[in-house]
Amino acid sequence: MSKSPFKKALLIAAALATTTSALAAGKLEIFSWWAGDEGPALEALVKLYKEKYPSVTVDNATVSGGAGTNAKAVLKTRMLGGTPPDSFQAHAGQELIGTWVVAGRMEDLSSLFKSEGWTKAFPADVVKLISSKGGIWSVPVNVHRSNVMWYNPAKLKAWGVTVPKTWPEFINTCATLKKKGVAAPLVVGENWTQQHLWENVMIGTLGAQGWENLWAGKTKFTDPKVVGAFTTFGKVMDCANKDASGLSWQQASDRIISGQSAFNIMGDWAAGYYTTTKKLAPGQGFGWATAPGTSKTFVMLADSFGLPKGAKNRAEAINWLKLLGSKQGQDAFNPLKGSIAARTDSDLSKYNTYSKSAATDWKNSKIVGSMAHGAVAPESFMSAFGAVIDQFVATRNSAGAAAAAQALATRAGIGQ
Ligand code: GAL
Repeated sequence: MSKSPFKKALLIAAALATTTSALAAGKLEIFSWWAGDEGPALEALVKLYKEKYPSVTVDNATVSGGAGTNAKAVLKTRMLGGTPPDSFQAHAGQELIGTWVVAGRMEDLSSLFKSEGWTKAFPADVVKLISSKGGIWSVPVNVHRSNVMWYNPAKLKAWGVTVPKTWPEFINTCATLKKKGVAAPLVVGENWTQQHLWENVMIGTLGAQGWENLWAGKTKFTDPKVVGAFTTFGKVMDCANKDASGLSWQQASDRIISGQSAFNIMGDWAAGYYTTTKKLAPGQGFGWATAPGTSKTFVMLADSFGLPKGAKNRAEAINWLKLLGSKQGQDAFNPLKGSIAARTDSDLSKYNTYSKSAATDWKNSKIVGSMAHGAVAPESFMSAFGAVIDQFVATRNSAGAAAAAQALATRAGIGQ
């Protein structure tokens, strides 16, 4: 029996209402550790997304804590509990590959890379870093640099010291500053920032090739050169503040601005903090140099977003990834973040002098991956290495720390 025109109209109206409400109810949950001071760059991206997809409600879920120490634990619970966010922040490289990719929890994004032209838009080395077993597993939104030493130009001038170029020189400068009454020439923060410092002392001592050999399993952590670099790390830590474990990376950066300490080794999210949050001018409000011994090296890491299997709002998540990987998205995010675009075609006129110098170095330096931020080591190594650092800081036992690190590397299958 055919329906009356009135009934048909009612049915069409009902169907339309459902479609509209489905659109209006569109959702996207993204997950990261970019809250508070770390938030503005991500918020700029979310704003762009909302402009493009006004009917989608974005839940910008964050768990604060530098380097994702807290967020990664929450993510683990959600992934294992079968309630993944639609897309989440992870580091390009072993951190994601060694966890959720090997566990078969991520979608392969190869076809998205093809349709968006990303295999050409991103440098081949970056694509290699996010690829394994024939798949491409995340979309990098940036490239951050680990090996930067930050300082306050006016203060260095007042103290009459220059930027040390090697770690032995750094230790000498530290002694000079101590004599001048600077109790802690170096400021460090909580455990992960000490790991960050450690990787820079290692690279500055072993050289870029030596660092690569370590992660390829060609050099053991128990090698005398590595043990020696641990000893240097201990001497560098002797220059640091005694309240490190209670300090966030932002609080450590604040001590450079205030002049309480002379130097801080931190990734260039610190440039984002100085310029976006603190409104300081690069070169005046803050200065930078490559970490001692690493002038020809760019220690890289990249923040990348993936698509977990079982994402509730898959279509919205794919649109999110498309925006992240686009030139427009990267050039909205990175000038605020302190990082440079992962894409090769970004508009450098949008970036400040710090970022422009990083972009030049990115092209002209030897590139190696960061351990502290997931590029070279799997999560199983990273999460356990914090205890090795704590133990070392408490005991200064270089040989013991090197042996403990080697045991972790063997267990994590590094170099196999
Ligand atoms: C890094 C991350 C950066 C920044 C930093 C401090 O691991 O890649 O984007 O957020 O932690 O939290």
